Order: sequence, then structure tokens, then C-alpha cells
Amino acid sequence: MFKDFLYFENALQKRKQSDILRILKTQNSGIDFYSNDYLGLARNEEFQKILLRTVQGNPELLKGSTGSRLISGNSAIVTETENFIAEKHQYESALLFPSGYNANLALFSSLPNRHDTVIIDEKIHRSVHDGCMMSHCRKLKFAHNDCFHLEEILKKQKGKVYITVESLYSMDGDVAPLHEIAELAEQYNAGLIVDEAHAFGVFGYGLVDRFRLQKKVLATVVTYGKALGTHGASILTNNVIKSFLINFASPFIYSTSAHDFLWKSIFEGYYFLTVNDKLSTKLQEKIKIFRNQNVKTVSNENSPIQAIIIPDNNRLKALTKTLSDQGFLTYAVFSPTVKEGTERLRICLHTFNKEEEILKLTEIIKEFA
Ligand SMILES: Cc1ncc(COP(=O)(O)O)c(C=O)c1O
Repeated sequence: MFKDFLYFENALQKRKQSDILRILKTQNSGIDFYSNDYLGLARNEEFQKILLRTVQGNPELLKGSTGSRLISGNSAIVTETENFIAEKHQYESALLFPSGYNANLALFSSLPNRHDTVIIDEKIHRSVHDGCMMSHCRKLKFAHNDCFHLEEILKKQKGKVYITVESLYSMDGDVAPLHEIAELAEQYNAGLIVDEAHAFGVFGYGLVDRFRLQKKVLATVVTYGKALGTHGASILTNNVIKSFLINFASPFIYSTSAHDFLWKSIFEGYYFLTVNDKLSTKLQEKIKIFRNQNVKTVSNENSPIQAIIIPDNNRLKALTKTLSDQGFLTYAVFSPTVKEGTERLRICLHTFNKEEEILKLTEIIKEFA
């Protein structure tokens, strides 16, 4: 037996004592106000039928890819899907990954080297931090969405610099001032990288596309496990960066590719979004119902993520328990996922949430507050 095993037990015990031990639960039945299935595609029977027909017409799609894309795992389907995605987003190139986490690891482990600086918004996703650790780059934080602070940091930099932000923040549900950040990136010659994991599908193809910022954003990450209801991610960029990633990004090089069914599902997902373009309007209607109830949140009025700060763990737990007893599935976010003192109830709104459900949910939250 490994003699230092006690270390693991102690770490877990500490979490348990602080009442923040993470455990896996099977999905409860209840009204979903916690998943990232904003447009309901993960449960959409029409979309499921399309995927079923696709695989019935070509069972080969389910075949394992058998290797890294640089050896035996590449296919015409993944290449065609990448070309299709690049065109849709009006970028020169796209590079597909099995998840957004992998895509961010690939970007931040390979683009910057140990002499470069990556300036991150303080609320950036964990995957960016982990990628930066792999490249040993210098990592500097700017205050959340604070362009003044970002510029202060930019002014002091020498050498190669990157800025990275999310367009719609996953824990706060607020949006980055992308125009201003893109201007600063241009002015200070910094490579801008935008993570659109939560914006894709909610705001069309994302905010970079909506604001026509493709020429100013070196790389955009869109993910397919949230609004698209499937799995995977793309890095949207130019041909040089795509080739650089294929040559230098370990998470891309040293990992077996997903099977073609994943790439085909993503391809079909884009079509489904185009044909069902009213879904995002429907989502906005549901968000509006929630916002009209005047629950105090830190989030953007158009965001499907609405965060209610409750910096008291016991009260936050009591609220989620009350909600759960009434059949509502919500998610309480504790530190270390968010900064201590900013613990929150994270509500996710979806196209399929009924008006009466939203009204009941907000009533309970307001009573509690
Ligand atoms: C902002 C952000 N980026 C990246 C990821 C990772 O994406 P995926 O879940 O596809 O691995 C997430 C997932 O929660 C996220 O919220």
C-alpha cells in the first residue's frame, strides 16, 4: 500500500468538514434549471431522430477512430465538418476537439511559450489556467471586464502577449466588452482569444460573429456540449495557427480522435440551428419572464445564466434544498469554483422551461431573499 495515502484522505476530509465535498450524483428527476442545454437540443426528439437516421444510413460512423488524427484517426468527415464550420463562422480555419476543455488546453499549452504573457480576465474558465500551466507562460489577471485595468497591464508588457476572455461568462452570466477589448488587443499588438462556450447557439454563432470581430480575434473557441446539446468544440482561427496547433499542441497530437459520429452530430447540429432559428428567440422570451420578476442577479439581461449571489453557505444550501424539495433542479456554486464570498445560486434558463415554472421558481427565491 502506498504509504502517503493518508494525504488523499486528509484532503477529502478537509473538504467534507467544510461541507464542500464533491460527489457524483445520477441525474435527479425534476425541473431543469441547472443544465447547459439552453436550447433544449439534448432532449429534442426531432434532433435525436435526425441523428438516428444519420447513423442508420451509415453505421460506419460509430467505428472507433483508431488513433490520433496525425496517424490513423483522420477522416474525410472531420475535414469536411471543419471546412463547413470555418465557413459558417467566417474564419479561415476550424480545428475540432472532443471537448472545450481539450480545445483550451491545446491553445494555451502551445501558442504561448515560457517567455510569453497571457493576460486573463480573473473569471476565465479553469481550462485556460490549466493550459497556461502546461506552457509555463507568465499569467497575469485583470479585474473582471475592467478594460482600464487591462490597459494598465498591457502598457507594462514587453514581448509576445495574449489576452483571453469569455464572451458570456459561465458563472456570472455577464458579457465581456468585446469591442473595447478587441481595440486594446489591436493597439497593443496582443493576440486575442475568446471562449464562446456559453454564447454559441444562445447568441447565434456567438458574439464574435454577431459583432463581426473575426479579423480582430486570433482564435475563438466554440463548444458543442452546451447549446448544441452534443459534445465537442472548435478552435476558429487562420490557417497558420491551425497548422501550428496540429504541429505543437499535445492535447491534439497525443490523443485518439473521436469517432465520426461526433463530428457528424455537430454538422447536423449546425443545420438544426439554422432550420430552427426561432429557438434563440424562444429562449430570450423565457429569460425575459425570469428578469421581469426582479430577482437580484449579477447577470446580463439577455443571458440564460442568471447568478444570484448568496455569500452564506448555509443559506445557499438551505435555498437549494427548498428548491429541490419543490422539484426544481438548480446549482449552488461554492468556492473554490468561485471566489470565497461570491458563492451563488446559478440558474440556467431554457427554451423548454414553462412560464409557471419560472414564476414559481422566482417566487421561492424572492421569499428566501
Ligand atoms: C467557459 C468555458 N470554457 C470551456 C469549457 C469546457 O468545455 P467542455 O465542457 O466542452 O469541455 C466550459 C465548460 O464548462 C466553459 O464553461
